[in-house]
Amino acid sequence: MQTIVITVGTISGLTGILAFLLTLAKSTIGNYGEVIININNDQDHVVDGGDTLLSSLISEKIFIPSACGGKGSCGYCKVKVKEGGGPVLPTELGYLTPEDMKENVRLSCQVKVKENIKIEIPEELFSVAEYEGVVSEIVDLTPTIKHLTFDIKEGSIDFKPGQYVQLRAPQYEGSDEEVYRAYSIASSPLLQNKLQLIIGYIPEGVATTYVHHHLNQNDEVLFNGPYGDFFYQDTDREMVMVAIGTGMAPILSILYHMVENNIDRKATFYFGARHVDDLFLLDELKEIEDKLANFRFIPTLSRAKKEDGWKGDIGRVTDAIDKHMGDGENKEAYLCGSPRMIDSTVEALKEKGIPEELIFYDKFE
Ligand SMILES: Cc1cc2nc3c(=O)[nH]c(=O)nc-3n(C[C@H](O)[C@H](O)[C@H](O)COP(=O)(O)OP(=O)(O)OC[C@H]3O[C@@H](n4cnc5c(N)ncnc54)[C@H](O)[C@@H]3O)c2cc1C
Ligand code: FES
Repeated sequence: MQTIVITVGTISGLTGILAFLLTLAKSTIGNYGEVIININNDQDHVVDGGDTLLSSLISEKIFIPSACGGKGSCGYCKVKVKEGGGPVLPTELGYLTPEDMKENVRLSCQVKVKENIKIEIPEELFSVAEYEGVVSEIVDLTPTIKHLTFDIKEGSIDFKPGQYVQLRAPQYEGSDEEVYRAYSIASSPLLQNKLQLIIGYIPEGVATTYVHHHLNQNDEVLFNGPYGDFFYQDTDREMVMVAIGTGMAPILSILYHMVENNIDRKATFYFGARHVDDLFLLDELKEIEDKLANFRFIPTLSRAKKEDGWKGDIGRVTDAIDKHMGDGENKEAYLCGSPRMIDSTVEALKEKGIPEELIFYDKFE
């Protein structure tokens, strides 16, 4: 009997000590207290330590491009860490060039802020802001692509045609995480207090399921931007525009900019789809063709069906380029869409003689 009492007592004692140690560990491990993020040797921001650099900066309303929403899979969130970032993590290696490594460039979504840290970011990121919007219109362009118009509640967003914003998808039934995803602006920079996006549905995609199945007219949204170095270049070169699917969005913004500013450079837009049913905004593009004498829209279908009676181009965008473009002399190119389409089109354009530095693109990945 005495043995049983001693054993039970010992076990209870050990359990108590373990529980105490666990509580102590919880309150100390990962508790880094307040730390200072120094930006560009100028601003000091005091934040609670322990979060990622990306999240800590967002909490200070400093927005870094982060197209994958911090998953470590886009490589967009690079910042120069001068001091205090800890060692480079294996998750960063695939995205850092030898030049990045030399310059102490890091993925801000992977770096944990555990001590005072010194970073450098481009000045233009200070003009990136957060905006609240209200959904004023949702139009189905195809069964899987929506055109959305948001009224910006306060002020207006100043962007270059071709740039993108990051839209927040809050938690919803079936998704317990809040995520941000990149969407190219489809509207004109002159459209005051409004922003338009073209968003495709990706089965089981967190943000696109929110947009396609949960977002309704009059709902409030949050987005930040503008971001990106893919935008209209003010030169005299002939423009070769190439897109598939929702990749039309930034090209449309560039075309609106050209119409509104009477920029009648020679320009051809090659747009790839599979079937007739996948084509959209054809009337809008016809109108732009009527307004810009030197602009031509060439849709091409990779899997046209006989019964559709399609009389236009058949094949991929690279086939249409091959057929219509001629050589690459004095031309520059703007590409938007899937990484596969971009890679094959860049190769095709280089073969035609457009130098790589004059081929601008945004891969939607
Ligand atoms: C600069 C930039 C601009 C962009 N602009 C647009 C735009 O204007 N319109 C638009 O619709 N999208 C655009 N995207 C893509 C967009 O940011 C999201 O990646 C996309 O909407 C999927 O988000 P999700 O949260 O629904 O999918 P996730 O939950 O992130 O992904 C779910 C699954 O689908 C896969 N997946 C993700 N994207 C694709 C895809 N495109 N095709 C096939 N599989 C995919 C993922 O690998 C994952 O396995 C852009 C991306 C970038 C980087
Ligand atoms: S946010 Fe995409 S890699 Fe960091």
